[in-house]
Amino acid sequence: MNGIQHLIPEFEQWKRRYPAGFEGSLTIPCLRRIQEERGYIADSDIDELVAYLGVPRTQVDEVLGFYTQFTREPLGRYHLQVCHNVSCALRGAEGLVRYLCGRLGIQPGETTPDGRFTLSTVECLASCGTAPMMMVNDAYHENLTPAVVDALLEELSR
Ligand code: FES
Repeated sequence: MNGIQHLIPEFEQWKRRYPAGFEGSLTIPCLRRIQEERGYIADSDIDELVAYLGVPRTQVDEVLGFYTQFTREPLGRYHLQVCHNVSCALRGAEGLVRYLCGRLGIQPGETTPDGRFTLSTVECLASCGTAPMMMVNDAYHENLTPAVVDALLEELSR
């Protein structure tokens, strides 16, 4: 993906839904679309989006800093996001993270050398009743145990 110019017609469609002067409200949907295309948000994407929306760069930086679903770096093919908030922690999330670190040979925030897996820890993903859980890309995996994780990693390694 070279720049965001090819996405501008799509953004223009969305812009029509907002009253004049509320272009900043497009920040999140535009960032989501850019990440969907590139896999992450590059510095040049931010520059182009700021110019397009006419918003302060700090507004885009604040969104990127607050919402953990946005990433500034390329991720592995599978992004494992393990919830380590209260319910998941009470049901073994930290042990699950240690287990994944051992299986994958990486720490949270890292990607395996083959580019297949990125491991992250995140706050509550609103699936507390089926803790411990993690997201793999857009899918929830719940009631995790080492055996369930082993089967999942095997499936994702094919
Ligand atoms: S605490 Fe893990 S999903 Fe809510």
